[in-house]
Amino acid sequence: MTARIIGTGSYVPERVVRNADLAEIVDTSDEWIVSRTGIRERRLAVEEGTSHMAAEAAKRALEDAGVKAEDLDIILLATSSPDNCFPAGACEVQAAIGAVNAVAFDISAACSGFIFGMNTVYGFMRAGIYKTGLVIGADCLSKLTDWSDRGTCVLFGDAAGAAVVRAEEGGLVHMTMGSDGVKGPVLSCVARTTGNFVNGRTPEIGYMYMDGQEVFKFAVKKVPECVNQVLQEAQVSMDEVRYFVLHQANYRIVEAAAKRLKQPMEKFPMNMDRYGNTSGATVPTLLDDLNRAGKLERGDKIVIAGFGAGLTWGAALIEW
Ligand code: COA
Repeated sequence: MTARIIGTGSYVPERVVRNADLAEIVDTSDEWIVSRTGIRERRLAVEEGTSHMAAEAAKRALEDAGVKAEDLDIILLATSSPDNCFPAGACEVQAAIGAVNAVAFDISAACSGFIFGMNTVYGFMRAGIYKTGLVIGADCLSKLTDWSDRGTCVLFGDAAGAAVVRAEEGGLVHMTMGSDGVKGPVLSCVARTTGNFVNGRTPEIGYMYMDGQEVFKFAVKKVPECVNQVLQEAQVSMDEVRYFVLHQANYRIVEAAAKRLKQPMEKFPMNMDRYGNTSGATVPTLLDDLNRAGKLERGDKIVIAGFGAGLTWGAALIEW
């Protein structure tokens, strides 16, 4: 028994922010952003938070799957920008959709989060513990962004994507995950919760920090590495794969991965031009785009792969 995706959904805020809009607040240009990243515009949350976006994506995925919320056994929300320290965003989603029979908890693996969520639910389903699950990747990084830092503020957007997963034969065939905490400081957002009885400080949340070049080097090495690993271990050839659905951080990273894997760019769908890097939401929103455009057929082999803060990385081979 493994975990098969039987429905997808996504949610993006209405507010569109184009590169030219950002050029009005920091020293940048549409030309710089497009040529270095492939991003043209992004959606930014105005009122909605992470849990709201996640719940909306979840409702659409349940509808697509034809599954009732009360039939869910488990809800995993992958996010690194939850609305609160606790309760977990997954519990807020549970309440919003009425999934009264599910256990719900968050997974914190930043941009690798959805992959980690899929791999976790796969483990539960292989073990015969849960039958019907909901995996969501949702992030609202705009609230952790320093809007005066041109090195980061042009890169990210807000979104949520979800997949309903059922324990069936086929589906997620093989997976890998990894992390390297020593390199954690190259991509971080520090929340200082150092207040205590003695010093009485109040908690403060910082902005995200990123060493772009270090993250770039890590990504172009790790993504092809874990894709190769997952295919080799599953004994599936590159040519059998219909799509490589990679984390949408930068089109140059996707291009570099395609080159290293010796696969044509047509197999690497992208949506970062419209949404930017939406962290945990990139892979499920892209899957939802493909699904709703009728581009996925049952039996198609798809590799999903991501990388992010932690540092973390992971991949999975999925049979649609
Ligand atoms: N607009 C204009 N200039 C900018 C800029 C912006 N938004 N951001 C940085 N620059 C400048 C830099 O200050 C630097 O100027 P200098 O040469 O005068 O010092 C110059 O552009 C080149 O900066 P550099 O950092 O070398 O650019 P780059 O080609 O590495 O591209 C990133 C920067 C962030 C796009 C790239 O490093 C990247 O994509 N890294 C990976 C990030 C990532 O994937 N993050 C998500 C992880 S999940």
